[in-house]
Amino acid sequence: AFSTPVPEDRYHDVIVHLRHNFFADEPINKSVELCQPGEPHAELEEHSLSTLRDGLSVMALDTETGEVIGVALNGVQHMGDLNAAQEKLEKMTDGSFKQIFGLLYSLNQTLDLFSKYEVENIFECRILSVDSRFRGRGLAKELMRRSEEVAKDAGFKVFKEDATGLFSQKIAASLGHETVYQMEYSSYTNKEGDIIFNTPSPHNSLKIMVKLLQ
Ligand code: ACO
Repeated sequence: AFSTPVPEDRYHDVIVHLRHNFFADEPINKSVELCQPGEPHAELEEHSLSTLRDGLSVMALDTETGEVIGVALNGVQHMGDLNAAQEKLEKMTDGSFKQIFGLLYSLNQTLDLFSKYEVENIFECRILSVDSRFRGRGLAKELMRRSEEVAKDAGFKVFKEDATGLFSQKIAASLGHETVYQMEYSSYTNKEGDIIFNTPSPHNSLKIMVKLLQ
């Protein structure tokens, strides 16, 4: 069963799901061992909760137990948000978190999709996560498909995501999203030439992907 938006009384269950299935397992997080499976992560939880509060997310529930088994956490990006987010990031203490989000924010600032598509708001799928016991059955694709309906109903023109792994890239491409930026993780190195995000195979690139809805 699917539910959208995610009701407030399920926010904690979503966070628990993410601790076990996303925070440690998303390819970039995994490459820097941002946290261990099941472990809380203050900054990621704040990021997830503020996204849930935008009221555009979709969750999948186990029909028998009612347990959260997948989520698409979708939020609104307003023009100017990225500058504010960068400033907030500078005050944070987790070095790896800063490195990951610093990269994503700066790439998005450079791309400036607001000017490119002449919009003030963008619908952003920030977290796509499926319980490891239920993967490979099309659940994430269905969460993305339903997210697109949510975006259309709310009147958004641009749907975007920073797809950090191959599976989310495949899903987005199959739903008609186009890649507007691509970076091979092996090309992103520090001054010494070391790869910063040594992501697990087959997750070799970061793609910023977009679908125009109207
Ligand atoms: N091996 C090979 N291919 C796979 C695998 C696998 N283990 N898992 C999924 N795929 C492929 C599928 O075959 C499918 O491709 P196809 O349409 O060409 O057949 C595609 O990936 C998507 O399959 P779904 O079944 O819809 O995806 P699933 O429900 O398994 O969830 C997800 C995918 C969300 C990426 C899951 O693996 C996950 O939670 N991973 C950890 C968190 C993560 O990395 N999330 C994405 C980060 S980007 C972002 O959040 C915006």
